[in-house]
Amino acid sequence: MKLKVLGILLCSALLFQNCTSKKAESTTIDSTTTVNKIEKTSYGKLPTGEAADLYTLKNSAGMVVKITNYGGIITYWSTPDKNGKYTDVALGCDSLGGYLKASPYFGALIGRYGNRIAKGKFTLDGKQYTLAQNNGVNALHGGKKGFDKVIWTATPIDGEEPQLKLTYTSVDGEEGYPGKLDVEVIYTLQKDNSLKIDYKATTDKPTVVNLTNHAYFNLTGDFSKEILDHEVMLNADKFLPVDETLIPTGELKAVAGTPFDFTKSFKIGARINDVKDEQIKYGKGYDHCWVATDSSKTLKSIATVYEPTSGRVMEVLTTEPAVQFYTGNFLDGVPAGKGVNYKFRTGFCLETQHYPDSPNQPKFPSTVLKPNETYKTTTVYKFSAK
Ligand code: GLA
Repeated sequence: MKLKVLGILLCSALLFQNCTSKKAESTTIDSTTTVNKIEKTSYGKLPTGEAADLYTLKNSAGMVVKITNYGGIITYWSTPDKNGKYTDVALGCDSLGGYLKASPYFGALIGRYGNRIAKGKFTLDGKQYTLAQNNGVNALHGGKKGFDKVIWTATPIDGEEPQLKLTYTSVDGEEGYPGKLDVEVIYTLQKDNSLKIDYKATTDKPTVVNLTNHAYFNLTGDFSKEILDHEVMLNADKFLPVDETLIPTGELKAVAGTPFDFTKSFKIGARINDVKDEQIKYGKGYDHCWVATDSSKTLKSIATVYEPTSGRVMEVLTTEPAVQFYTGNFLDGVPAGKGVNYKFRTGFCLETQHYPDSPNQPKFPSTVLKPNETYKTTTVYKFSAK
């Protein structure tokens, strides 16, 4: 009997909590400040029993970003078109199950090392470390169970510009990397329709770090369409040629006169099938790292993408020295999500980062992090329409 009463009381309390949190979605404090409340819902369980949640961030302009603490994945991202209509432009799965089954890193946080490390090996302070060779002979995106496949601890922070703070501790030796790495990523949905991502990490032993986000975009908002008519401009006058396994040769090559020149705006499709170009052949299109012309560590614009039918514009700003521009050349109809089977070149990524394979390439900017140092980078994806 007592239990029954307790149950009723508990249910009413939960119902009450639900009602109050719904009502308080966005509260105006005074005429200039609006607090946008973050909604948290359950997103299901991993086979290990760990629970995942989904956090919905909204700003007052109308942008909505949904992020799960499983892999820090952005599952939904609505942005305005030229008529002010907000539509989801981020490729993704329909549920946690979809992401667990097969996802080519849709919207996920990538670590410890974004991009490839040759043959899954590197030497640091005279000691060789061996990583999983999960991409042909190379290591890719942090290994078999990278930061895209772990549960992060989430702290939602309501505000005019709502934030989701995610933290994760990667133990010493995880996926073969040395040192216990404490990572913090803060997503901030800003009032100017941009999403800021602040990355921070510290270690207790020298290690290598290269964090990024692997969002795929199709600015038409129609995921059945190819992205070839999107117009791209990259503030990068050099790129890193690769070998057939997509490991940089070590050369920084001028883009001038090649299909890699996006210093002026070009349609993605204009030169993507230029199979006479060995680099295009190796990447099956674009899957290369462009080096920012501005090598300073300040937040600078590295890319602008315009989609003519919707009028959507996406600008990418970063403190990082480079960006991997990938045109979805490995999408082949699997997985499915958001009403489609994701086909060849129906999404593109702009993954801000340090150069691939830096741990093996002493001439590249260093990705080594030492104890008492703090890894800190920022990337902003800003949306508008014209
Ligand atoms: C990265 C790589 C690509 C591919 C995708 C995931 O961007 O550069 O080659 O592996 O991730 O499919």
